[in-house]
Amino acid sequence: MSSVCYPEHMGTVPLETKRLILRRFRRSDAPSMFRNWASDPVVTTYLMWTTHASVRETKRVLSRWVSGYSQSDHYQWAICEKGSDDPIGSISVVDKNNRLAMVHIGYCLGRAWQGRGYMTECLERLIRFFFEDVKVNRIEARFDPRNPASGRVMAKSGMIFEGTHRQADYNNLGICDTSFYAILAADYRQKNHG
Ligand SMILES: CC(C)(COP(=O)(O)OP(=O)(O)OC[C@H]1O[C@@H](n2cnc3c(N)ncnc32)[C@H](O)[C@@H]1OP(=O)(O)O)[C@@H](O)C(=O)NCCC(=O)NCCS
Repeated sequence: MSSVCYPEHMGTVPLETKRLILRRFRRSDAPSMFRNWASDPVVTTYLMWTTHASVRETKRVLSRWVSGYSQSDHYQWAICEKGSDDPIGSISVVDKNNRLAMVHIGYCLGRAWQGRGYMTECLERLIRFFFEDVKVNRIEARFDPRNPASGRVMAKSGMIFEGTHRQADYNNLGICDTSFYAILAADYRQKNHG
């Protein structure tokens, strides 16, 4: 086993991919976030939070996220297409363990923008950021096996399947099985530097 150092948290800094900008949310994003994904029950089917009933609800969530940016271990990015400032989804750290130098990633994207490889692009960028800049040791994510597109994003981003825990999670469909993918700093180094 490797000896692990604590991560060097940097907070939600702006990141760029080929087609996308990842930036901090602003309170003024509420109407776009509500319209583009938070109000869509198809998008939230496999998520732990329920579909927003009003822009007011979205504003409350955004207020919490924006306040969180004062902490250096708060990671919550709005996903925007280059050339537009309108957020179309989010990608964030939903759990972390500093002692393990581990972050757990979650994401969602508006239906109109799915199937274009966007989330894979985001997750690949976060993997680079967390290994190269924050210096974590493990990045993990999990999904309901009935939502294979999410697992596919993890696999395409270079994460390794670690197994399925039975009835170990919940989402808007109730208690569910949960499948884990993860990538270690050593996997990343091997992949990128041979
Ligand atoms: C899951 C989600 C993030 C994927 O984002 P995306 O930008 O569409 O993902 P990508 O285009 O990068 O990749 C999706 C992959 O899943 C595949 N896929 C889509 N539907 C699938 C299905 N029903 N079965 C198997 N694979 C599927 C796509 O073909 C693609 O793989 P490919 O490139 O090998 O063809 C998006 O659908 C989403 O936000 N869903 C709602 C919220 C959610 O479920 N979040 C994850 C919770 S764990």
